[in-house]
Amino acid sequence: MSNLIPMTEFRGSQATAIMALEPKVLYAELVPQEEWILNFSKAREIYNSISGTEGYSFIGNSSFQRRSVAVGFAVRAKGFEDLIDKYLGMYEDPVLIQFGCGLSDRSERYRDKIDNGLPFYDIDFPDMIEFRRTFYQESSSYKMIASDLSNYTWLDDIPNEHKQRQCIFVAEGVTPYLKESQLKELFATLAEHFPGCLFIFDTYSEFKLKDAKRSLKKKFGAEFHFYNNDPQDMVAWGKDGEYKFLEEDNLLLRDDFLHSKHLPALYRGLMKMFARWFTWSKGIMRSTVVQVFQLG
Ligand SMILES: C[S@@+](CC[C@H](N)C(=O)[O-])C[C@H]1O[C@@H](n2cnc3c(N)ncnc32)[C@H](O)[C@@H]1O
Repeated sequence: MSNLIPMTEFRGSQATAIMALEPKVLYAELVPQEEWILNFSKAREIYNSISGTEGYSFIGNSSFQRRSVAVGFAVRAKGFEDLIDKYLGMYEDPVLIQFGCGLSDRSERYRDKIDNGLPFYDIDFPDMIEFRRTFYQESSSYKMIASDLSNYTWLDDIPNEHKQRQCIFVAEGVTPYLKESQLKELFATLAEHFPGCLFIFDTYSEFKLKDAKRSLKKKFGAEFHFYNNDPQDMVAWGKDGEYKFLEEDNLLLRDDFLHSKHLPALYRGLMKMFARWFTWSKGIMRSTVVQVFQLG
C-alpha cells in the first residue's frame, strides 16, 4: 500500500499552487546542489510525498521546456528573496506576511530568522491552508492563516503588536488571479491598516500569460485578470503620493537568468535577443517584474 499523501482536489487559483511547486522540484533535480541559487529541498520533499500531482503538471516532457521553466521559477523566487532580504535588513523589528503562499517553501528558507523571532505569516484560501498544514508546522513566530485575501478576516489574525511594526507583505505569483478592483482594494486596506508598509509582488504582461490563459481556465477554472506593463498605473490608484513605487527587479534582465548555464542554449540565446532587441515591446520586456511599493 502506498504511503503517499492523497492530493486534495483543487479548483481555481488554488490548483496553481501545486503547479508552482513542480518547477522547483525539477530545479532541485536538474541542477547540482552546489550550484542551487535557492534551496528547494522542502518543495521536493512535499511534492514527492503527494499522490496525484500529475493532474496539475503544466510542464511537458522535453528537456528544453523542463530546464527553461525550472530555471525561470527558481530565478523568480530568488528575485523575491533578494528584495525581501534587502528590506528585512533595513528595519529593526520587521514582520513578514505572505499572501497566496500555496505550498511555497519560503518559510523553510527563513526558518533560522523565524526561530530567531521574525514573525512570518502565510495566508491562503482555507482549503489550501488545510492541505498546507499537512506539511508545515506552526511555531510561536510562524503562523498560517486561512482567509480569502479579499474578505479581510486575515486582518484579525495579525496581533496589534505586529501591525504596529514595519510590515513587509509579499505576493509571489498571485496578482494575475486578482481583479484590478481587488488589488486596488488590497492596496487601500494595507495603506489604512499598515501605514508605511512595503508590498513586494510580481506582475505579468498580457503577452506573457496569453498562452496559459485558455488551458488554465479549461483545466482548473482558474482565471487571469490582472496584467501590468507600467508601475505608474498603480501609483495613480493612490491620492497625493499615497502609493510610492520604490524599485523593481525585471526577471528578464537578471544575470542569473540570462547567463544561467542550466538554461538550454537556444532558450538563453532567445532571451538575450529579447532583452537586447525588443526594448520597445513592454509585453516582452515586462513579462515578469517583481515590484516594491510603499503604501500609506
Ligand atoms: C500560482 S500560486 C503561487 C503560490 C506561491 N506563492 C508560490 O509561489 O509557490 C497562487 C496562489 O495564490 C492563492 N490565491 C489567489 N487568490 C487568492 C485570494 N483571493 N485569497 C487567498 N489566496 C489566493 C492561490 O490559492 C494559490 O495558492
